[in-house]
Amino acid sequence: MAKRWHGAMFGVLLACLPGAAAWAQGSLNLYCSVQVEWCQAVAAGFQRETGIRAAMTQRGSGESLAAMRAEAQNPRGDVWFGGTGDPHLAAAEENLTQAYESALNPQLQPWALNQWRQSGQRAIGIYAGAVGFGFNTELLARRGLAAPACWADLVEPRFLGEVQMANPASSGTAYVIIATLVQLQGEDAAFGFLRRLHANINAYSRAGTGPIKAVARGETAVSLSFVHDAVTERNAGFPVAWATPCEGTGYEIGSMSILRGARNLANARRFYDWALAAPAQRLGFEAGGQLQTPANRAAPLPPGAPDLSQLRLIDYDFARYGRSAERRRLIERWEREVGTLPR
Ligand code: G6P
Repeated sequence: MAKRWHGAMFGVLLACLPGAAAWAQGSLNLYCSVQVEWCQAVAAGFQRETGIRAAMTQRGSGESLAAMRAEAQNPRGDVWFGGTGDPHLAAAEENLTQAYESALNPQLQPWALNQWRQSGQRAIGIYAGAVGFGFNTELLARRGLAAPACWADLVEPRFLGEVQMANPASSGTAYVIIATLVQLQGEDAAFGFLRRLHANINAYSRAGTGPIKAVARGETAVSLSFVHDAVTERNAGFPVAWATPCEGTGYEIGSMSILRGARNLANARRFYDWALAAPAQRLGFEAGGQLQTPANRAAPLPPGAPDLSQLRLIDYDFARYGRSAERRRLIERWEREVGTLPR
C-alpha cells in the first residue's frame, strides 16, 4: 500500500517537472553499431519527433552481439540499430531478437527484405555497403608505392607494416572481410592468405572504421574497410582514395533488430518504423556524412556514395556466414592461426 502511494507521489512530482511530457512517452534503449555521429543523430531525431527519451550505446557489431548474449536473461536494450548483417543473423538464430513486420516493408529494397526473411523476420536491412581498400594517396606517393588493386597485392613485401584492418571478434567489418576471402579462395587458402597478410599488418583495431581513420591521419598507408567509409574521410578533407579488389569483393547488409524481452516494446516498434522511413534513412548522410546505400527505395543514394551496382560483388552467402556456429568457428580459427602469431 505504502509503495503504491509513493509511486503516485512520484508521478505527481514528475508531472510538475520540466520535460515531463517526454517522460510521459516513456523511453527507448538503443544499441547502435554505426558511426557515433549517426547513432547520436537517430537517437536525438527520434526523441525530438516522438517525445520518447532515447538512450544510446554505441559499440561494434561483434561487441553488441556479445553484450546481448551476456544480458540475455535480463535484456537492457530494446533495438539494435546498424552493424553488419552477419551478427544480426546470429542473434536471430540464438533467439536474442524477436520477429516484427513493419508496415514499411513494401518500401524497401529486395536485399533488405531478404535479410528479414532469412532471419525469420527478426532482422531487416537498413543499408548496404561493399568492402575494399582505403589508402592515403600522399603517403603512398611519398613511399613510391602503387595503390593496391587486388587482394593479391596486399600480401606483397612492398606493403610490409603498411596495412591495417580491424579485429573480427569486435568488428563486423573485419568478419565480412574474412568471410569474403573464404568465399573467394576457399577456407584453407584464405587462412594462408590471412597469415601472409598478418606480416604486413601494423595493427588490428577494435572498430571497423579504425583503419580508415588511421589512413586519413597518415598513420597507415592502406586499410581494409567499407569503401563508403573511405569516401566519408575524403569528403572530410583527407587525402584518401579507395578501390575494390580486382578478384571481386564482399558486402554487408547493415541491419536492425528488436531485442527479445525488450522492456519498451511499443517504443521499439515505433523506432523501427521511424528508422525505415525515407527521412530517417537520410540522417546518416545528413548528420554524419555516411555514404551507405539506403534500404528505403525512396531515399536517394547520397551524393558521391559508391554505387554498388557498378562494383564486382561476390554472391555473399549470408545464410552460411551469418550462422552463429560458423561465425564463431571462423573467428576462433582466425584468433588461433592468425591474430596471435608474432609479427
Ligand atoms: C561502420 C560502417 C558501417 C558498418 C559498421 C560496422 O560504421 O560505416 O557500414 O556496418 O562500421 O562496425 P564494426 O565496428 O562492427 O566493424
